[in-house]
Amino acid sequence: MHSTAPSPDGIMRLGLGFWGSKAFLSAVELGVFTELAKGPAAADALRQKLGLHKRSAVDFFDTLVALGMLDKRDGRYLNTPETDFYLDRAKPSYIGGLLEMSNRRLYGFWGRLTEALRNGKPQNEARDGAASPFAALYAEPASLEGFLKAMTGVSLPTARAIAAAFPWKKYKNFADVGCAQGGLMVEVAGVHGDLSGIGFDLPPVKPVFEAYAKQRGLAQRLRFQPGNFFEDALPKADVLVMGHILHDWDLAQKEQLLRKAYEALPAGGCLIVYDAMIDDARRANAFGLLMSLNMLIETPGGFDYTGADCIGWIRKAGFREARVQHLQGPYSMAVGLK
Ligand SMILES: C[S@@+](CC[C@H](N)C(=O)[O-])C[C@H]1O[C@@H](n2cnc3c(N)ncnc32)[C@H](O)[C@@H]1O
Repeated sequence: MHSTAPSPDGIMRLGLGFWGSKAFLSAVELGVFTELAKGPAAADALRQKLGLHKRSAVDFFDTLVALGMLDKRDGRYLNTPETDFYLDRAKPSYIGGLLEMSNRRLYGFWGRLTEALRNGKPQNEARDGAASPFAALYAEPASLEGFLKAMTGVSLPTARAIAAAFPWKKYKNFADVGCAQGGLMVEVAGVHGDLSGIGFDLPPVKPVFEAYAKQRGLAQRLRFQPGNFFEDALPKADVLVMGHILHDWDLAQKEQLLRKAYEALPAGGCLIVYDAMIDDARRANAFGLLMSLNMLIETPGGFDYTGADCIGWIRKAGFREARVQHLQGPYSMAVGLK
């Protein structure tokens, strides 16, 4: 019988999307892609290397093939070009930090999304009323380092796009406000050999930043300045960057940070704000919108915003020009000129 009923496939695929997501996150956690970056492996050899039980190992590996994250040839598993480049822990292009953090923290916290939608409160370590979402996260060195590495992972493609898209040649120095491990600074300074930079972040971030700058051979040109961006003046530099900063905070705090950026910049200086900015019609950038829900889970008042919102706030802070430029994937930057 011919049916005119619409297909339920999209509904079921999205509703059970967490099966695929969790299988993939477990693969990152277990180091499947790091292991296969050493060379293709048969199921049993791979299973033993990873320390997995016999029962579901082959189903697990074949699931990853069906999801497009592994390939299989002549009975042996291998990485795809993407998973080999981005998910081998031994490569500097590794972006699995965010996925590891999602697996360890967000996967469980998002289980309480309905509660958060009802009460408007964060559902992470700060669930019991910590004043700053970062205080609870940074209480333990392992979760501090895990979070900062996760930031490098999530920001790497955007950092590379900013290194290429912004006219850095016009400027001598820059400061990254809330720099985390220094992921963006390393990409920008790596491409532009004349630039020096200041990484500004909370004091516990210092050793993680300095170790990373040294590891990437940039310790001479990148230095760390500890501080609190609500309490201290922002560093002086020709260009200030705020990436994934504004979305952490409520509107009054966003505006306060933009005013402080304006005050810190010289005339002719530039502010770069990047986030997964939501499209102005608020209907296409699903990642940006989900990121905003993630801010509900992670922060007391944070939310993501459109490019038009950001331009309005930048102008209100005093900047004479503001524009939005798409960078890559769901990410855009707003550039304000003082
Ligand atoms: C979401 S992360 C963004 C990291 C990085 N800019 C990126 O895009 O990958 C926010 C950063 O802001 C820093 N931060 C939070 N509160 C801060 C404060 N009051 N003063 C200075 N830095 C702060 C955190 O330590 C963290 O590194």
